Amino acid sequence: MAFEKFKHSYLQAEPEVWSNSTIVVDEEKCNGCGNCLKACPSNCLEIVDKKARKIPDIVCLSCSACVSHCEKDAISMHGFYNVEKGFFKTMLYHPEDGYPNPPEVEGIEGMTPVEEAIYTRRSNRIYKKDPVPDALVRRVIEAGRFAPSHGNNEPWSFIVINDREEMDKIAKMMDPMYRLNAAFFYSGKTNPVTRAMLKVSSILMTPLMDQRAQAGGKAIIQPNDVFMGAPCLIVILGDKRGIANVDLDCGICGQNMVLAAHSLGLVTCYLGFLAAAAKFMPWLRKRLGVEWPYKVATAMVLGYPRVNADRMVERELPRITWHKGGKTWTEMP
Ligand SMILES: Cc1cc2nc3c(=O)[nH]c(=O)nc-3n(C[C@H](O)[C@H](O)[C@H](O)COP(=O)(O)O)c2cc1C
Ligand code: SF4
Ligand code: SF4
Repeated sequence: MAFEKFKHSYLQAEPEVWSNSTIVVDEEKCNGCGNCLKACPSNCLEIVDKKARKIPDIVCLSCSACVSHCEKDAISMHGFYNVEKGFFKTMLYHPEDGYPNPPEVEGIEGMTPVEEAIYTRRSNRIYKKDPVPDALVRRVIEAGRFAPSHGNNEPWSFIVINDREEMDKIAKMMDPMYRLNAAFFYSGKTNPVTRAMLKVSSILMTPLMDQRAQAGGKAIIQPNDVFMGAPCLIVILGDKRGIANVDLDCGICGQNMVLAAHSLGLVTCYLGFLAAAAKFMPWLRKRLGVEWPYKVATAMVLGYPRVNADRMVERELPRITWHKGGKTWTEMP
């Protein structure tokens, strides 16, 4: 059992333990516009003969972004990302139909506006160039300011780069790190030494070694734009001296901002890749203006959508353990 934990600790689309969702393209409807490719965070789609298709062997995150960004309803996702055993074993239940299904409750008619916003909000990866007025950026941050935090310690601070030229320079700075990282990770397929090193790294830095994170990291390498053409970047910094769990507080703050942005007609996409790059690149932190006691907690781009991706998508079902009336049970959907 203990050995099993380490056996698949470094995952690189190992067919014996991993399966992907199936991406189906309706060729009648597909016009080859390429929006699904632009939206795909793992670059696992291509256009062949003016039709989209999944590139075999590149990991699909089962994120539904291709589905949400297709204005022709031509692409669908079936099944979910699944790892059967080992360190990265998936724990959620794969439903037949994973669309939002809030149970009916007496006295509440349909979905509330907040629920509607939560279920239909999608990360957007195709932006117009139009700049976002500073007043709107301030309004988004204002929603973050009122997020709950441990002991109301409000550990956040914000960097706003409402300047596409500066964003281009930052994207260029991130590029070499992701190139090097991708070369290292993918050489593990053939090189036993790298493979052994990656196995150890996956124990020490588990979240970074998940193959989905690596596929995403590879996808942001230029000529792709890590900022997806968006005109504005907000970096959320966390005060390292904050109470209990600064990253969690900043994440909650970020989600207040994301939902407020959507209610204001803007769209957003979180950028964990910027936070990861800032962790390993002091010169990037300097360029951003990150100083002690702050660290980059997370970041997001925001702007106006060139493609409206907001709609409901499918998700895996949660595992829920109930404690009630002296009994405990885990719900199997
Ligand atoms: C903390 C965090 C970091 C993320 N980082 C990135 C990123 O660097 N690049 C990206 O394209 N998407 C990023 N995403 C977006 C996720 O891929 C997206 O939320 C997920 O696929 C679900 O899609 P949805 O937001 O449309 O529901 C991030 C999301 C979160 C919450
Ligand atoms: S977004 Fe839709 S129509 Fe456009 S290439 Fe992809 S599947 Fe085809
Ligand atoms: S589900 Fe996500 S990762 Fe998979 S092909 Fe679609 S956009 Fe790409």
